[in-house]
Amino acid sequence: MDQTNSSVVTEFVLVGLTQSLGMQFLLFLLFSTFYVGIILGNLFIVFTVISDSHLHSPMYILLANLSLIDLGLSSTTVPRMISDLFSDCKTISFHNCMIQMFFIHVTGGVEMVLLIAIAYDRYTAICKPLHYLTIMNPQMCMLLVVAAWITGVTHAVFQFAFVINLPFCGPNNVGSFYCDFPRVIKLACIDNYGLEFVVTANSGFLSTGTFFLLVVSYIFILVTVRQHSSKDLSKAFFTLSTHITVVFLFFLPCMFLYVWPFPTKSLDTFLAIVDFAVTPVLNPAIYTLRNRDMKVEMRRLSRQVISSREMT
Ligand SMILES: *[C@@H]1O[C@H](CO)[C@@H](O)[C@H](O)[C@H]1NC(C)=O
Repeated sequence: MDQTNSSVVTEFVLVGLTQSLGMQFLLFLLFSTFYVGIILGNLFIVFTVISDSHLHSPMYILLANLSLIDLGLSSTTVPRMISDLFSDCKTISFHNCMIQMFFIHVTGGVEMVLLIAIAYDRYTAICKPLHYLTIMNPQMCMLLVVAAWITGVTHAVFQFAFVINLPFCGPNNVGSFYCDFPRVIKLACIDNYGLEFVVTANSGFLSTGTFFLLVVSYIFILVTVRQHSSKDLSKAFFTLSTHITVVFLFFLPCMFLYVWPFPTKSLDTFLAIVDFAVTPVLNPAIYTLRNRDMKVEMRRLSRQVISSREMT
């Protein structure tokens, strides 16, 4: 990551969320609670799935992978956002800014493909129940996870390649509480409307494309559920509608941040917080904790923990 001679910017300035001390304190409590929830909730799911062989089905393996990615995604920004709340000098070094952007896009890309994989898993289970076990075999599951990582890394490297060699010599205020491509590119001291377009279009295309794919898939699954079973309809409908809620919550902010041509600072900040702090805590709650097998297994685990404590 060598900077060219013309670059003089060695650090970027991030914008604080609020000036008021009372608000800072409130946000500190709020985000710390969310982040602890994200860590505990997601690690608990990963631990539960790994430790119990009943949960070694494709759905749970994908959900455990999603939990890990959620944890990673929020760790790219939330800890820094919390520690910056009270600091007067919110600077981030050039390298850390680049690293932050890179990991946001790796984890964001992986997350999107995992959500597709989970929708595909549900599609197979609901629309092709007799072939579920042959279609969603361990190899398929592995393939989906590997595809998610390849997509995420390729997407991030592609974005990164455009930005890493740009000269930064002028203003260095990112105008947000985290570094991201569209804003950092604006600070480069060359004319770069074309570049801005390429990078925005890349993220915008990935999120918009994935969003519509998922919405269409879920509509298709719902229509199938309606046609085939009347008894399971309400249960399946409930599960699917919670999945669709997560899809909307995750993708609408993404699409606004990358595609919407008229950025507004306060709205952008709010939407980014939804994606980094709110959906990572909702995903485990919605996808997993509402799930019967998972609840049974969690109860078994907690009984074990309690009884092992009583013995000592
Ligand atoms: C993620 O998916 C891979 C491939 O199927 C699997 O081997 C791995 O155990 C999963 N990770 C977790 C934390 O469950």
